[in-house]
Parts: sequence; structure tokens; C-alpha cells
Amino acid sequence: MNILFLGDISGKTGREAVHHHLYNLKEKYAVDFCIANGENMSGGSGITISSYEEMRRAGIDLFTGGNHIFRKKEVISLMNDSENVIRPANLSPSCPGMGYTIVPLSGGRRIAVINLLGKVYMDNTADNPFLAADNILKAIGERTKVIFVDFHAETTSEKGALARYLDGRVSAVIGTHTHVQTNDDQILPGGTAFLSDAGMTGAVHSILGVKPEIVIEKFVTGMPRRHEIAEGASQLCGVFLDIDDETGKARAIEKIRIQ
Ligand SMILES: [Fe+2]
Ligand SMILES: [Fe+2]
Repeated sequence: MNILFLGDISGKTGREAVHHHLYNLKEKYAVDFCIANGENMSGGSGITISSYEEMRRAGIDLFTGGNHIFRKKEVISLMNDSENVIRPANLSPSCPGMGYTIVPLSGGRRIAVINLLGKVYMDNTADNPFLAADNILKAIGERTKVIFVDFHAETTSEKGALARYLDGRVSAVIGTHTHVQTNDDQILPGGTAFLSDAGMTGAVHSILGVKPEIVIEKFVTGMPRRHEIAEGASQLCGVFLDIDDETGKARAIEKIRIQ
């Protein structure tokens, strides 16, 4: 199974990068299923119905979330109406939406997608992501061997530890949230593909997708300022995965970064 995953799509500039490149990427890699982290997709924070529909039309099959997933309340109706938007699984059980989903594909194949939130330097009340993953894998059981995990976390240590904890039990653990692509793509000994962070799909000349002058002013003055998405040249960041349908093990992982 050929899977394409895009790192956090940041605002309109990020959506423009998807329009520029996704069609060609899907052709190039003969993509069976395309996933993107959408937590920053609308105005830099959250997901609106209009940007969801726009990105579905552009070719993204499923959206994962992160710490910003509920910033726009209309995402809840998206979660109620379809199974194409998931939120971190280790949030409160009373939180709307689902933390994982199993999607049927052609030829009787299935892919499970799990979204988890990190704990280290994340300032949240999420449950332990390691134990949450154990519970979800138990629930998935034998329904599919192809299991993709978006681990939305800050530190490379927590991401590397979860990937190794799940090595041989899932097909891929790909990190998001830092918006900076890392250079540690690898297939672990048990067959799990791993990359600490897929990077960001958004403005090249920005600080994590935001106008640099705003972020600089915040650091210099220590005063809060509303973030605005940077414009201009865009980049698409993500990762391509080739997964064996039968065993769920990764055959290839390739970072993608197009400016
Ligand atoms: Fe993000
Ligand atoms: Fe985030």
C-alpha cells in the first residue's frame, strides 16, 4: 500500500502548496491513501468546513489533528458527519470525535489511522500516549495489519520512544507538531517506518508558518500578539510510505520536501 502523509498544513499558504503539488505527487508515487495533519489548516489554527472541503477536493482522504484541532468549533460537525477527521485518541473520552479510524480501500484492503498527542512540553491533560496506543491496537485486533500513527508531539525523545515501543506492531510512526522536518527517517528493526517530524506544508519565509515579524515582536517585547499566516513562497513537507499489505511492515520510507 502506498501512503502519502503531509505534515501540518498551515493556512491558505499551505493549502496553496497542496494545490500546486499534490496531484503530481499522487501520480508519481501511485498513492492509494493520502493523509494530512490538518490542525493548522484554516487561518493557522483549526479546521473549517470550507477548507476541509477544499482539501478533500484536492485529493486528501483523511485528516489527523493535534493540540489545535478544536480551535474552530465547526470541526465537531465534520467529525460527526464523516470519519475523515480524527483527533488525538488520548484526549478525554467525553471529547467529540474519534482518535482512530479504520478505512476500507479497494481490493478488500484496510488501513487504520491513529492520532496521538505527546505529553512532554505540551501543556495538556492528555492521557499517556503509550498506554493509549496499546488499548487501540487491542481494539483494532486482526482487522488490519496496515496501521499508521501520527504522533503529534514536541520532543524527539518522546517520538523516538513511542516509535520503538510500537516497533513491529504498527506500520509507521510519523511525528508532527514541530513544523520542522527532521532527517532521521528509518525503518526500525521490527519493520515500523519512523520519522520524528514530517515538517510543515506552508510558507517558506515564516516561523512555523506564521509571519516572522509577529513572532519576533512577541519574543522581543514579551507581549501577546495574534498570529497571522505568512504569505509568499510555499513548501510542501511530508513522507511517502510503502507498506506490505499482508504483514503491515514498511518496505520504504522517503521524506518529501518541495519548495
Ligand atoms: Fe501544527
Ligand atoms: Fe500542534
